[in-house]
Amino acid sequence: MLYPTPVRLAHLTDVHLLALDGSRLRDFVNKRWAGGLNILVNRGRHHLAEVFDALVDDINALGIEQVACTGDVTNLSLASEFRFARAHFDRIAVGPANTLCVPGNHDNYVAEVAGVFEEVFAPYCAPDPEWSWPDGAAWPAVRVRGELALVGLTTSQPSGLLMGHGTVGAEQLARLAQVLADLRLAGQFRVVVMHHPSAGRHARSFRRGLRDHAAFADVIRGVGAELILHGHEHLDLRNQLAGPDGPVPVHGVQSGSYAIDSGRRRARYRVYTIEPGSGGPTGLRPVGGEAKRSPLIRPRLARVETRTWRPARANFEVEAVL
Ligand SMILES: [Fe+2]
Ligand SMILES: [Fe+2]
Repeated sequence: MLYPTPVRLAHLTDVHLLALDGSRLRDFVNKRWAGGLNILVNRGRHHLAEVFDALVDDINALGIEQVACTGDVTNLSLASEFRFARAHFDRIAVGPANTLCVPGNHDNYVAEVAGVFEEVFAPYCAPDPEWSWPDGAAWPAVRVRGELALVGLTTSQPSGLLMGHGTVGAEQLARLAQVLADLRLAGQFRVVVMHHPSAGRHARSFRRGLRDHAAFADVIRGVGAELILHGHEHLDLRNQLAGPDGPVPVHGVQSGSYAIDSGRRRARYRVYTIEPGSGGPTGLRPVGGEAKRSPLIRPRLARVETRTWRPARANFEVEAVL
């Protein structure tokens, strides 16, 4: 007999791993000239692969079962950056089958790199075979792991000089509504994983926000979700969207590689503990001495822990429990 147990989901984001070794100057064309110089001067010294390695060590030591990354694994979408980032993600012990990554705007920086993220990070965004789209579309990427259903979206698009906005797009929104309403997920804890924030003032920003945030909110209002994770702002952001059964949390967290010991932006990630319900595939409960399926109750969020980089100890430790 299967008894349900709590599952933990780590959320990390915006590690912006910088590897200029091997990249050639001609890579820095188009938008990269403007963004690249700025990044080389500023960002490169703040986001350190060593900090991300320590984050991965922490996830591995805790034995966390599932990982979600909400994008911006690179800075300039250089092929060498994607390979460098991939090598560091490959240190996650539970592997790509249990680590879902979606692209950020920096992973789709200029038009000619469209599809490179999906190629280099293919095992990290592959859907379950039974959830693949008949027309070969890559997104939404749906994975069901026990009572967790992870729904990855792309919001990334080449956005023009000094811009960073994103869109879900009408077609992807229609598929998202279809997935979230699918009866196969009726007893699951549904987590939407995307780069851009979908609620609050950052979602409404013309320059950096989610252009179709209102249409996204309409989908959530209609069919619901249990948690929406995002990155992009490198800030601890906690908002919510209305759902059919009450508010749906919309959470962002700081970069997972920020090395400067500034309290507001120091590297962080979160660990969500989800307690089992009674409707998922493991939802068999002993009733009257027999295992029977009890009435449908979705799994629930039991604990949200923020873990923070401690430079003096070169490790991550619990900072707060929400
Ligand atoms: Fe970012
Ligand atoms: Fe971003």
